[in-house]
Amino acid sequence: FVMERPKNEPILSYAPGSKEREELKEKLGELSSKEIEIPLIIGGKEIKTGNLGKCVMPHDHNHILAHYHMAGEKEIKMAIDAAIKAKEEWENYSYIDRISIFLKAAELLSTTWRSTLNAAAMLDLGKNVFQAEIDSACELIDFFRFNSYYATKIYTEQPQSSKGILNRMEYRALDGFIFAVPPFNFASISGNLPTAPAIMGNVVLWKPASSAVYTAYHIMKLLQEAGLPDGVINFIPGPGSKVGEIVFSDPNFGGVHFTGSVNTFNSMWESIGKNIRNYKSYPRIVGETGGKDFVIAHHTANRKALITALIRGAFEYQGQKCSAASRAYISKTVWEDIKDELIETTKNLKMGAPTDFSNFVNAVIDKAAFKKITGYIEYARENAKILVGGEYDDSVGYYIKPTIVLTDDPHFKTMEEEIFGPVLTLYIYDDDKYEEVLKLCDQTSPYGLTGSIFAQDREAIRKAEKILVHAAGNFYINDKPTGAVVDQQPFGGSRGSGTNDKAGSYLNLLRWTSARSIKENF
Ligand code: SER
Repeated sequence: FVMERPKNEPILSYAPGSKEREELKEKLGELSSKEIEIPLIIGGKEIKTGNLGKCVMPHDHNHILAHYHMAGEKEIKMAIDAAIKAKEEWENYSYIDRISIFLKAAELLSTTWRSTLNAAAMLDLGKNVFQAEIDSACELIDFFRFNSYYATKIYTEQPQSSKGILNRMEYRALDGFIFAVPPFNFASISGNLPTAPAIMGNVVLWKPASSAVYTAYHIMKLLQEAGLPDGVINFIPGPGSKVGEIVFSDPNFGGVHFTGSVNTFNSMWESIGKNIRNYKSYPRIVGETGGKDFVIAHHTANRKALITALIRGAFEYQGQKCSAASRAYISKTVWEDIKDELIETTKNLKMGAPTDFSNFVNAVIDKAAFKKITGYIEYARENAKILVGGEYDDSVGYYIKPTIVLTDDPHFKTMEEEIFGPVLTLYIYDDDKYEEVLKLCDQTSPYGLTGSIFAQDREAIRKAEKILVHAAGNFYINDKPTGAVVDQQPFGGSRGSGTNDKAGSYLNLLRWTSARSIKENF
């Protein structure tokens, strides 16, 4: 069986008068005018525990979109049983039967489900229409399609045989269930973390991020409509540490697919380490843990392209991408050329509700994020210079103005720590200190996720590639550090940014299979 390499899902424009715009507007009205109840989904059954959490809109936090039921110990164990029960049948499906379900999900999302998921992401995650479209539509569709394609490549890859001998590789599911723990910020990651292992025949417990349960629930319903058999993916919102404690102490734990904070990932490794003697096989631990992503401008940088990259890289989706540009090293001559336009453009970015399609900036996800980000802003106000922004207001929604900080200390707190908000810190260097700055950038942060170099000079580009070899798993030359596309820029970093198992490539899928070599003599 040969599957053609898919094409990336085209991004729709939502131009005034377009069909997709009308449909989306209608869906936004429909979803925001009702409050739903979200159950757990275990073994295909809806379970209600009465222990409730709330889904609210970041841009209007008194507006409740849903109440969701949270899993307790009993339900987590139920979910493990349901997954293990579904395992035998699911791993014995042919891979073509399995991928058919995810290809169907991609088709549904590309057509009838598109406006629902985009509206959910706009209301629940605070995305503007473009950010929703590239995430909850295009990237999630791409994950379903390309992961299906990568699976077919893996399953058909076979060792050599010779006269009288047949050698085979059997790509088995892992020995146990997979625990999928996504972040709030991408519907596509939320959907990818449980489905990539499932495509490879695994069964999954999916604990969505508490501030993104509403969007995740809609993805679960989409998968059910596409024909996902009961128990293959079990949807269990709940308190992360409680769920983790039970999951990691279960002998059937087979692996974790995680995106989130360094602290949570470290705690996972520790819990897994403590339980290591109880498992049937060594579990797979796959995680992406954020970044302190950089932009470096050499004195030959194209000024216009640099300004666009700084603004889009730092402020799209309010800087809440693990790939967001949050520190920039800019040569003095470049800085003199760009500063007025950069500050003016940032000042004029339109902020407000995502339901008004002309807004570029929306609210940050929740109160905790608002407090953390504004804490950094206040620290910068005291100890550095705020060039633009610095204002915030959470009376209706969690709004923070795009903020640019200038420091003369390359080790300033906001140059080193992940903020996960619309705050960009700049350090201006003398043009002849380029190489020192590359080394400084490499050594400043413990992360290694994304980074960009802006230069027209080939030698400057070459130096950056060489010196920053581990500083960014996704390295961009004359482009912003965000917006990796499935099958084009496989995504992930090493160092403090995770296990670098490259979402959006076959490398990730390889982590979800445990191969058996079979030799037969005739
Ligand atoms: N894949 C996203 C990006 O590249 C981040 O998760 O921006």
